[in-house]
Amino acid sequence: MDITVVGSLNMDIVAVVNHMPQAGETVKAAQAALHTGGKGANQAIAAARYGGRVCMVGAVGNDTFAGPLREALEAAHVDVAGVIPKDGSSGMALITVEADGQNRIVVCDGANGLLTPADVDHACAKIPWPIGSALVVQNEIPRETVRQALTVAHQRQWRVLWNVAPVVPMEVGWLGRDDIVAVNESEASRLTGKDVVDVESARLAAQRLMEFGPGMVLVTLGALGSVAVSREWGTMVIPAREVIPVDTTAAGDTFLGVFAADWDGVSSPEPSLQVATAAAALCVTRSGAQNSIPQRQEVITFLT
Ligand code: ADP
Ligand code: NA
Repeated sequence: MDITVVGSLNMDIVAVVNHMPQAGETVKAAQAALHTGGKGANQAIAAARYGGRVCMVGAVGNDTFAGPLREALEAAHVDVAGVIPKDGSSGMALITVEADGQNRIVVCDGANGLLTPADVDHACAKIPWPIGSALVVQNEIPRETVRQALTVAHQRQWRVLWNVAPVVPMEVGWLGRDDIVAVNESEASRLTGKDVVDVESARLAAQRLMEFGPGMVLVTLGALGSVAVSREWGTMVIPAREVIPVDTTAAGDTFLGVFAADWDGVSSPEPSLQVATAAAALCVTRSGAQNSIPQRQEVITFLT
């Protein structure tokens, strides 16, 4: 499939500490590392490693992270012509991991916050993908820019996969009848105001989100798998693959990117949901984020 991803690129700065510093205190990290990330970039890489032809639309700063953020995409054969340089810093996430595994995260939108609706128009005008290709978008860019990405997709007759993460209030009228909304359990809970903890509550949440007008809602449930409610295909419950989890970072991004790359938008989505579930399972067996996103052949081997 041909895919356009409009979304975020972030540099994750990860430090492993015994305890968090108090105000004015300095602590030593046992280890520290830089990892390229951002939901947009992760989903683009997942789709490209699965074999999709992917164009990324996003923004980086004029700092030392701009090069590595672009190169991580290029290494996965994602086209970065639509990654626009901005004055200021790239998106960053400062992550401390304590001995007990707890994370504390400070996010700076940086260039992601400067991606404009006009940037999306200009970048998408150069993307040759035909009617029926897919647009994948999340909410780590400004709301009006998300809105414009949806508008461009509708004009071009691209299928929309909107990962409503982080959660912003959804509006009736933004979504077309063929569009897909994808959320995890906590996002589904926040959007519906009802706890989503299992397959049944996820099915109910998906049905409520269908009232915003999409053709399908996907709710992922971590180790419980996922539930899809589709106007055309009904309710599909996809159990997770049984694996020993090592690091669930990027599981949701892998799931969505691979689903976007595998589904043609016409036949039943269920086989593609199975493929996405297998790819996400492989991702959770490995530590790290972008580096744990599997290649197509690994997914096929796992499935057979
Ligand atoms: P997010 O990363 O957005 O929170 P989830 O945690 O819901 O997303 O995971 C997305 C998908 O990844 C799930 O639907 C499931 O198929 C797979 N997955 C997540 N955690 C596990 C796990 N512990 N074991 C197997 N598969 C998992
Ligand atoms: Na997760």
